[in-house]
Amino acid sequence: MAIVLGIESSCDETAAALVRGDRRILAQRIASQDDAHRPYGGVVPEIAARAHAERLAPLIKAVLEEAGMTLADVDAIAATAGPGLIGGVMVGLVTGKALAMASDKPLLAINHLEGHALSPRLADETLDFPYLLLLASGGHCQLLLVEGVGRYRRLATTIDDALGEAFDKTAKMLGLGYPGGPAVERLAAQGDAKAVPLPRPLLGSSEPHFSFAGLKSAVLRARQSGQHRDADIAASFQQAAVDCVIDRTRRAIERVDDITALVVAGGVAANHAIRSALETLAEAQGLRFVAPPLALCTDNAAMIAWAGLERLAQGQSDTLAFAARPRWPLDPEAEPVRGAGVKA
Ligand code: KG4
Ligand code: ZN
Repeated sequence: MAIVLGIESSCDETAAALVRGDRRILAQRIASQDDAHRPYGGVVPEIAARAHAERLAPLIKAVLEEAGMTLADVDAIAATAGPGLIGGVMVGLVTGKALAMASDKPLLAINHLEGHALSPRLADETLDFPYLLLLASGGHCQLLLVEGVGRYRRLATTIDDALGEAFDKTAKMLGLGYPGGPAVERLAAQGDAKAVPLPRPLLGSSEPHFSFAGLKSAVLRARQSGQHRDADIAASFQQAAVDCVIDRTRRAIERVDDITALVVAGGVAANHAIRSALETLAEAQGLRFVAPPLALCTDNAAMIAWAGLERLAQGQSDTLAFAARPRWPLDPEAEPVRGAGVKA
């Protein structure tokens, strides 16, 4: 049974994992850089790249030791090759290439978004293609029809901010620090979700796209008005986000046939309010709902190793000349969205 070493370094988590073809995670480590970036209220690319360079090799060594293995026991090396902060991506990809070359094993250059998109199949062996995926992270908010390994049809994306970004910015406005999503969720639990009137951008619009910039600005105005408790702002923001996600996802469900499940992945999938609202939506639509455990939702290397295993099983591999890609859409054919900014 194949064993793949996965490497992840596209943002602010340095991670390595060993995963076997039967979905057993043999060992995994994640080194968070939260402390290094906290003073700046967000990820500083240069600091991230340097931290990956310091931490990655010892982390890989630790993972191999924990599993009682050497590179000789590994069948392939899978490293995130984009999209993400290019300095960090290069650290991970070049490390993966060096290990592949030294051990004479195949290299799999993995799209980080493909790692998120296939992670639900690592968690649930009964999840078959095609499924509808809400991929919501710090950099992306998309609805994708996942038809197979390497076959992704983008039904919707955000025309401005990603959902995780909206959580992070709300956290910053409320002085909750970084990373913001979990902090907003905790504070929201103490607030009244009906206390602050906030907009639901694009609610009811015919295309299932997302927009969160207007919601973010409204949060800022609510805060500046001085009329609301922070917990009420957090709760009202989270409720607005949930309402948008559910409305847009419902619209996407109308556009696909014969899907096996509604699936959520990416860091924002760790949010309990969003998870449970999606679960209710799936039930109402007669669909199965699949969400990976929280640790597989936020960035990790097991999902990269798993995407590598899926591609290896299809006989795929990449050359040592594979270039790191700062931008790398899962569906290159998707039409640009009117009003969309630079974020993919
Ligand atoms: O997938 P991920 O770990 O990294 C990216 O690829 O972006 O996602 C990180 C994002 C951040 O914006 C973070 O605030 C958000 O996921 N996030 C959450 C929660 N946990 C993480 N957002 C809302 N609620 C959470 N519990
Ligand atoms: Zn991610």
